[in-house]
Amino acid sequence: MRDRWSSRTIFLFATIGSAVGLGNIWRFPYLTYKFGGGAFLLPYLIALIIIGIPLLIMEFALGQKFQQGIVGTFSKINLRLEGLGIATVMLCFFVVSYYAVVMAWALIYFFRSLHMTLPWTGIANSYFADKVLMQSQNIETISSINPLLLLGLIVVWMLIYFSIWKGVNSVGKILKVLIPVPGILLVIMLIRGLTLDGAMIGIYHYLKPSWNALLSTEIWIAAASQIFFTLSLGFGVMIAYASYNKKNENLNQDALITAVANSSISLFAGFVVFSILGYMATSTGVSVDTVVASGPGLAFVVFPQAISMMPWAPLFAALFFLMLITLGIDSAFSMVEGVTTVASDKFKISTEIVALVVCVFAFIAGVIFTTDAGIYFLDIVDHFLTEFGLILMGIFQSIAVGWIFGAEKLREFMNSVSSWQIGKWWNVSIKYIIPISLSLLFVSQFFAEIKSNYGDYPSWAITMGWLTVFIPFAIIVYYAIKSRKSIIQSS
Ligand code: PHE
Repeated sequence: MRDRWSSRTIFLFATIGSAVGLGNIWRFPYLTYKFGGGAFLLPYLIALIIIGIPLLIMEFALGQKFQQGIVGTFSKINLRLEGLGIATVMLCFFVVSYYAVVMAWALIYFFRSLHMTLPWTGIANSYFADKVLMQSQNIETISSINPLLLLGLIVVWMLIYFSIWKGVNSVGKILKVLIPVPGILLVIMLIRGLTLDGAMIGIYHYLKPSWNALLSTEIWIAAASQIFFTLSLGFGVMIAYASYNKKNENLNQDALITAVANSSISLFAGFVVFSILGYMATSTGVSVDTVVASGPGLAFVVFPQAISMMPWAPLFAALFFLMLITLGIDSAFSMVEGVTTVASDKFKISTEIVALVVCVFAFIAGVIFTTDAGIYFLDIVDHFLTEFGLILMGIFQSIAVGWIFGAEKLREFMNSVSSWQIGKWWNVSIKYIIPISLSLLFVSQFFAEIKSNYGDYPSWAITMGWLTVFIPFAIIVYYAIKSRKSIIQSS
């Protein structure tokens, strides 16, 4: 008998828990700011509506209909699509291997917050580089593993493993904690943020539109890849989760609830982040522009810095990092579930063992990110996997469903089990709008990428980044052209 969620609410907790994570707290506010404040919200919302919601419905429908993880699902549609499933699982595995490292950074900060005065007061930048990461000069200088980070990573993996080892049924109990706790912490942080001096200056920067930004293709790519990342799309995670539903759950509505809840939390987190940044800008006398750092820097340099300037700093630092950890853990374990679901569909071994194997291997894969050059590797892998790998999976998955399985056939299934009926627009979206718009974005981003040298990294490092995209691609192509007979024989 397949494992089942204990209730519909728990299923929604799981999907929202997967969607809401580090992507909502640092990635979304940072992108919003980078692309001109309020102007980013428009491409973000457009991408949510034309790509995010239709694909989320698609993933829920596939999981529920086929009752399997992504590899089983796509190979049932057509054996030649098995490679697409395998490539997706690989991608998911690599993303969780570094996502867990980011959580380990948060764990270190959490423990270091438990002091009378925060140790990074006034030196947040060098503290992150020297004391947390023990960062080397450049990617070519790898001399050692950072033992503290390694220990943090082990703890994170234990938290992940013991959340899921008993299967989705036990995950439900943990989610009853992991959903409300960060929610409450976020509200506390918002109240704290809004009552700080200068909060409104920050919020003004958050919401101020800058329409010129809409003309760049970069903003559209950023919006589309953010939608994939934040809704956990293209990883096979939502397919795996929906496969633990009974075949007749009200899936259209569940997809809508998940998407709306996730984006509302992102918008909400934006207020928290920007009110704190406004405070920091006001109290240091600089403009908000100069306090906003990129990606990981926002959560691990700017936040610790800003919080260290607040009254009751250690308390709020501990709450903030606890929030990051509790938000991240259910996203991380959903990725592991994406992989374990596929493995336990294929090999009939107990979840405990499958999960253990996946966690151990993902931990080992993540060790490179705990070295002194780890952050450089993390930056490259994250860049290529999220901006190219995911978009590629989105293109192939929508073509596979739209054209090979048949969008209309899946739409009939969704509507037969759901109260909210999806119109024919969904077919158009899956067959045309998503593959075409993502392909255009992919191609234009590809050319921009080969012209520029990402992060000024040496060419072997860039090649390694590209390999994370080309290897899954090669697997897809290999399975697609492998002769039917040999596929049948080997399976
Ligand atoms: N959606 C998560 C976040 O925003 C990340 C994630 C991606 C989780 C893919 C699962 C699968 O942080």
